[in-house]
Amino acid sequence: MSHLPQDPATPLARAASTPRHLLMLSLPAMLVAVALAPLAHLAAQAPAAKPAAAQLTIDTAKIVTPVSPMLYGMMTEEINHAFDGGLYAELLQNRTFRPSWMGIEHWDLVREGSAAAEFSVDKTTGPSAALPSSVKLTVTSAAPGSEAGIANSGFWGIPLRAHTTYKGSFYAKAEDAGIGPITARLIADKTGAVLAEAKVDLKAGPWSKYEYTLTTGPIASSSTNHLQLSVAHAGTVWLQLASLMPPTYHDTPNGNRTDLMERMAGLHPKFLRLPGGNYLEGDRLEDWYNWKTTIGPLVDRPGHQAPWTYWSTDGLGLLEFLEWCEDLKIEPVLAVYAGYALRGDHIKPGKDLEPFVESALDEVEYVTGDATTKWGAERAKDGHPAAFPLHYIEIGNEDFFDRSGSYDARFEQFAVALRKKYPQYKLIATAPVKEPAGSEPDVIDDHYYRPPAEMMDFVHHYDNAPRTGPKIFVGEWASMSGTPTPNFGSTLGDAAWMTSMERNSDLIVMASYAPLLVNINPGAMQWSPDLIGYDASSSYVSPSYYAQALFAGHLGDGTPKNSITGAGDHFFYSATLGSTDHVLHLKLVNASSVSQPLEIALDGGMKARTATVISLHGSTYEATNSISDPSRITPQTRMETLTATPWHHTVPALTIEVIDVPLK
Ligand code: AHR
Repeated sequence: MSHLPQDPATPLARAASTPRHLLMLSLPAMLVAVALAPLAHLAAQAPAAKPAAAQLTIDTAKIVTPVSPMLYGMMTEEINHAFDGGLYAELLQNRTFRPSWMGIEHWDLVREGSAAAEFSVDKTTGPSAALPSSVKLTVTSAAPGSEAGIANSGFWGIPLRAHTTYKGSFYAKAEDAGIGPITARLIADKTGAVLAEAKVDLKAGPWSKYEYTLTTGPIASSSTNHLQLSVAHAGTVWLQLASLMPPTYHDTPNGNRTDLMERMAGLHPKFLRLPGGNYLEGDRLEDWYNWKTTIGPLVDRPGHQAPWTYWSTDGLGLLEFLEWCEDLKIEPVLAVYAGYALRGDHIKPGKDLEPFVESALDEVEYVTGDATTKWGAERAKDGHPAAFPLHYIEIGNEDFFDRSGSYDARFEQFAVALRKKYPQYKLIATAPVKEPAGSEPDVIDDHYYRPPAEMMDFVHHYDNAPRTGPKIFVGEWASMSGTPTPNFGSTLGDAAWMTSMERNSDLIVMASYAPLLVNINPGAMQWSPDLIGYDASSSYVSPSYYAQALFAGHLGDGTPKNSITGAGDHFFYSATLGSTDHVLHLKLVNASSVSQPLEIALDGGMKARTATVISLHGSTYEATNSISDPSRITPQTRMETLTATPWHHTVPALTIEVIDVPLK
């Protein structure tokens, strides 16, 4: 029995019949279209005269529904260079020397002065079964001052700061150590200045790992730099897995970018839905997220073709996802691959699907098993003896795209096996499923990407939805206006939508905006808008980020009885209460171009005093933040005294307010 069918008007539902490659090619045009649509709609609604005050009544003594403590979380996947070239701190792009029709992208041959050399991919030798090939550097002539080697330009530059140590490493094989040492240098692109240098002696013989450090002096911060690995003697050397890591969040080896971790912490999330999204599925069946190839030493991770057009190194693999959760003190919502590929193929339920069900069981054991279990022991060997917390397991992603109808049986096969071994976890279906006894989903994952005006028109969608079936996880949602990050029109749509999720949070247990991260460099982005933007050296947050951080940071745990009359069509609100701190949280969203006066009556016998009003205002629907103007829209805090009942309060045009009213 279906819970809530996907609305056929959603862009995704409309796109369901479009082959994925066509969808991706037409994405920019689609985004422009949806970006423009809402603005005309909202402007047309703007009344000329100042409206009369709306009456908002809240009975703080009567809690009518609970608010889910896990309502706000994050969704992630490898899209827009979210991991490689994003959160994952690795500075070298194409560190495993994968060739393309353009050559060995992001690597250049270096021949200084009279040096003579060539480089090419050698498919016959590599340091591991996972990395069986390498780059072969053949130097026919080189000397001190006329060195030969290779250089990497990073992910749209290599960001460097003063007095900072960078950890470099590579695997190498040399027939004769006389070609060495290899000199690693950080070099400024514009001037050729050497900003840091280290020498690495080679040994002749089989593949070995080499490590070095590069420490900068009093340099100016910049990202127009490259790494050069070069030699001053003739000979041949093979290289693989060349890495350069800056300082990371909490100094974790193989860790994450500090600024992005801090941005995410600022969202006050409660969970991370991982590892996707489409990233879980892959375009073809062979591209599925095989988590077992993403754990262990980096040299044993082959990487895989990700669906958003580029290769994933899997340097940020399953354990790193889990440690990311641990660092932010949140829990994973673990999505397991369920046998569907984006181009429409699926694994037949039954015998063919069995290995994938086994893989999912193993994956849950890797996450939650103690060190006496096979996969718990593997996790301990990988450096993390303690098990991770888990409550929710999602089976697949957007399986409503599977027109074959196989999801019912695929879901059932996973659900039966998972419930048998792990009855304690709640199972999330990604599409409505027919429900043979024992395989009912606990939760359905609904996704909404809509223009802001449509998002606002949609805010009553769950108000009268049945409360007897599965709970709802809004696992992906966004108002679609603005690029690369949401503009203020989107922010208003997002805030309006969040008021509806809070109001319905007895049904909606979790929600996560998507996508979360975008590298804003040309060529790095596949989807917009995205919540947090960055380049190699800095990051910024969108106005929608601020709205989401404010909503999540002032959540409360119950919705008091409330009602409103006389408000404009583009005014939205939610009221929640904290039962332990006795704070009333009001979220007021005025998406119209005129102010909204309110008379707020607080019933329930508790006396209000001074309220904290945090306000987010955009001058236009198009107004936004950007990497060059990151603080155009930021929250502003003021105190407001409540002297009378009703409390007269006006929400300015194009403004979101989060108000804390202490009730005791
Ligand atoms: O968030 C971008 C994509 O949108 C996700 O990968 C997918 O689940 C949805 O179609």
